[in-house]
Amino acid sequence: MAAERARGGVGVPLPHDSGHLHVSGEATYIDDIPEARGTLHAAIGIAARAHARIVSMDLAKVRAAPGVVAVIAAADIPGKNDYGPVIADDPIFATSLVQYHGQSLFAVAARTVVEARKASRLAVVNYEELTPLLTAEAAVEAQSFVLPTEHLVRGNPHAAIAAAPHRLRGRLRMGGQDQFYLEGMIAYALPREDGTMLVHSSTQHPGEVQHQVAHALDVPASDVVVECRRMGGGFGGKESQPGLFACIAALLARTTRRPVKLRCDRDDDMIITGKRHDFVTDYDVGFDDDGRIRGVDFVLAGRCGYSADLSGSINDRAMLHSDNCYFLENVSIVSFRCKTNTVSNTAFRGFGGPQGMVGIEQVIDDIARHLGRDPLAVRKVNFYGTTERNVTHYQQTIVDNVIHEIVAELEKSSDYAKRRRELRAFNQTSPVVKRGIALTPVKFGISFTATHLNQAGCLLHVYTDGTMLLNHGGTEMGQGLFIKVAQVVAEELAVDVDRIRITASDTSKVPNASPTAASSGSDMNGKAAQAAAQEIRRRLADFAGSHFGVAPKSVVFRANRVHAGERSVSFNELVKLAYFARVPLSATGFYRTPKIGYDRKTWSGMPFYYFCYGAAVSEVAVDTLTGENRVLRVDIVHDVGKSLNPAVDMGQIEGGFIQGMGWLTMEELWWNDEGKLMTHAPSTYKIPVASDVPPVFNVRIFESDGNAEDSIHRSKAVGEPPLMLGISVLHALRDAIAATAGYALSPQLDAPATPEAILRALEELAARRGEPAPAKVAESIG
Ligand code: MTE
Ligand code: HPA
Ligand code: MOS
Repeated sequence: MAAERARGGVGVPLPHDSGHLHVSGEATYIDDIPEARGTLHAAIGIAARAHARIVSMDLAKVRAAPGVVAVIAAADIPGKNDYGPVIADDPIFATSLVQYHGQSLFAVAARTVVEARKASRLAVVNYEELTPLLTAEAAVEAQSFVLPTEHLVRGNPHAAIAAAPHRLRGRLRMGGQDQFYLEGMIAYALPREDGTMLVHSSTQHPGEVQHQVAHALDVPASDVVVECRRMGGGFGGKESQPGLFACIAALLARTTRRPVKLRCDRDDDMIITGKRHDFVTDYDVGFDDDGRIRGVDFVLAGRCGYSADLSGSINDRAMLHSDNCYFLENVSIVSFRCKTNTVSNTAFRGFGGPQGMVGIEQVIDDIARHLGRDPLAVRKVNFYGTTERNVTHYQQTIVDNVIHEIVAELEKSSDYAKRRRELRAFNQTSPVVKRGIALTPVKFGISFTATHLNQAGCLLHVYTDGTMLLNHGGTEMGQGLFIKVAQVVAEELAVDVDRIRITASDTSKVPNASPTAASSGSDMNGKAAQAAAQEIRRRLADFAGSHFGVAPKSVVFRANRVHAGERSVSFNELVKLAYFARVPLSATGFYRTPKIGYDRKTWSGMPFYYFCYGAAVSEVAVDTLTGENRVLRVDIVHDVGKSLNPAVDMGQIEGGFIQGMGWLTMEELWWNDEGKLMTHAPSTYKIPVASDVPPVFNVRIFESDGNAEDSIHRSKAVGEPPLMLGISVLHALRDAIAATAGYALSPQLDAPATPEAILRALEELAARRGEPAPAKVAESIG
């Protein structure tokens, strides 16, 4: 008897489709593709100044170096010297002006990687030095911006703040973050006949790379094919900037008429490519005795670096997430998009949302401390309601608010109140080690804020043996998109998922695909794939109906079989019969997200189709003499609607939390006074590792009735939202530090909260109370 259900439809916790290849080392990343005959290797020559005019650039020694086959600079580009994703301010090679330390000046193709890299260091460049602007604060001071300043106002914030019983002002800084994907930037360009080009690119956006390469080569888009089977991680870093590497590889391939591979090593990757935007946020808030916010004023300064890249949308998203889960009746948000002589910052998981949310969370925390209340209580009085107080500051009515349920459940399951009491008792008797706890919520808007990007396409082939080939515009970066979309197709046709061959993203199969970003990959490609599978099913049902003499509507697909009245055949048999009856067995599917759209000029409308929610409780212990700290326990409840694949979703929740924790507590980017990034390898840039996973880590998927909107099988996006659960660790650290001041004062703790930052916060807090810091006390005791 056939199983009642085919293997691996939606909701089944299948492993990642490439899991067996990842762990055995057999998964093909671009550097693993067998090299075509004559392949050359490229390296980029980069600028050694942050801001300078190029007086002269002598490449003679580069050309003469062993193994070098070609050297190119701006003048050798047949098309446009630009790869900017939104506006044209990203030269492939700098011409007269250097705008950051690490900017690309020229490139070399040589017989080997080592020869190319060695040669790339031999240029003689004369610079006329200019003063670099390095920080967001310096940029605001100099009014140096990549894009116009934005201002969103709702209600009458200034009057509301002035009239409120209490008022606080503050400033917080949060650092950037390197995406630190395991596979660095890489492109492999293979010239094909008649001036066409195939480019393997590690990119979240093959369609954009296709255009960037076409513009650089001055050929039509139809002459360039971009393919990406998988990335070894993207995390937003490969949304717009792979274009630089693809363009250089393609230009060198065009020049030499040979295949050219350009692979960055870790240092070059970190020096050349953009990171999460660091922010300086100023706030001014008025509130009542319960801690309810009457009015709040934010000034956000995001460091964009030298060019616009995706900074417009990223800073917009910071503005749109400055509410997190809280109703802000009277609010003003000014957003500066700071232009500095540093690398062009770009997408990173959360896309500005986390920066906006860290701001409001600190406001809430400071209010709680000021009033001597539990921060969780203050959070709750400010939560969006479900029938009132439910309109965002951009005029979107929230119809799916589940934060109350999630927080109630988590508060209970984590034993928050009891542990908080116990921990305070512990702190009274523990002079050096202080414990802290915090529960922070997450609400994250799903959809690209650039509305046109909310579209996806799919191509589905059925072969006469009943197997299938699935292709869609989404890209796989480890997040499990491909298996989820395959599960959707398997569900629709009621067949085993293992008969579906998942294939590389390819601009020649699905055109004009959006980047796989904004967490919307499975939402959109899942729906597009469902549409293609439904089309195939319709054709097969029509055929089965006429073949077996029943109404097509009565044809049932179940567990690898097709039932038509009394008759039943295997799916494979039906496909074969359909083929002989000349039924087309290939279909495309398309999806556009409904309902959304908003007016950026008035900051109003519906930028997001729906919201994802979650909450985390973190408990930490801090050594107040050294700043050293541990995360002892973390509890998470996170909403993914009706999960398409709970195993994959759990991985995203855990990984997202850890990455968010890393951003806020240990990953520190540091530029020297000349604007040179000094933390460009894991030796100096610390990301969380396996041993940083909390010893107690209780992660639960919220029991949900499903997405309130008609998303794919009522699931919810999961890629980015869990990152912001990491904010709970920052707040637990604040709580532990506040213990040294009897919880009466809020620490001035910037992110990342490294041990040094924690020590500074302890010292500052002690100074404010007119006392020596704990470390100083210990010193004097000896
Ligand atoms: N998970 C892994 N393993 N690797 C990644 O690079 N990128 C994140 C998230 N999860 C990423 C990841 C980011 S930034 C986004 S936008 C989403 O995955 C994109 O994929 P999705 O839309 O299919 O969720
Ligand atoms: N999120 C992620 N990536 C994007 C967006 C967005 O809202 N808009 C453009 N690229
Ligand atoms: Mo993710 S930052 O939207 O690629």
